[in-house]
Amino acid sequence: MEFFELVERRHSVRSFTGEPVEQAAITRILKAALSAPSAKNTRSSSFMVVEEPELIGRIARMRDYGSAFVEKAPLVILVMGDQLRSDLWEVNAAISATYVQLAAQALELGSCWVHVAGRPRRREEPGGPAAEDYLRSFLPVPESRRILCAVAIGHTAEPAPIRKEEIPDADDRVVILP
Ligand SMILES: Cc1cc2nc3c(=O)[nH]c(=O)nc-3n(C[C@H](O)[C@H](O)[C@H](O)COP(=O)(O)O)c2cc1C
Repeated sequence: MEFFELVERRHSVRSFTGEPVEQAAITRILKAALSAPSAKNTRSSSFMVVEEPELIGRIARMRDYGSAFVEKAPLVILVMGDQLRSDLWEVNAAISATYVQLAAQALELGSCWVHVAGRPRRREEPGGPAAEDYLRSFLPVPESRRILCAVAIGHTAEPAPIRKEEIPDADDRVVILP
């Protein structure tokens, strides 16, 4: 898929058909993610591929808001960053997660980012138990690695809107200097 078409087509997908994601597709997504740029080429990002429905169900229960839909995804890729490799692990991991989503789109798969780092398990308890600690309790995440997000991926069960962002005449997000 041509890059600009890919960008126009990408949107967050939170409902999936039951069809599994082919191994070749997973390999291509990971290959793309591993090639993402990183500060000082520290390559601090790493990935955990989860396909087992029981485990995916547990991941979906990490928060009581905005993560339940993950249960129906056939594939989850956790995007992590090694704090010992880079002080910019979070930035590096965010770029990596974006690569995961764009690679999924290039393969005509839907995806959605579900944030982990810094998020509480319960919306009403911002200082309470953390989603990340909950995931660490049953996933083999090395101590130095932080979990930035889980990207849910699958064949999309939603019609895909095509979005074309116009370059605005006046928008405080874009300043074009004369
Ligand atoms: C840093 C970040 C965190 C996000 N966290 C969640 C989340 O926890 N749950 C969720 O359903 N979507 C999450 N999203 C998806 C956003 O809601 C979505 O990207 C946004 O609404 C724009 O929609 P679009 O992706 O279709 O363009 C997250 C996206 C980003 C970039």
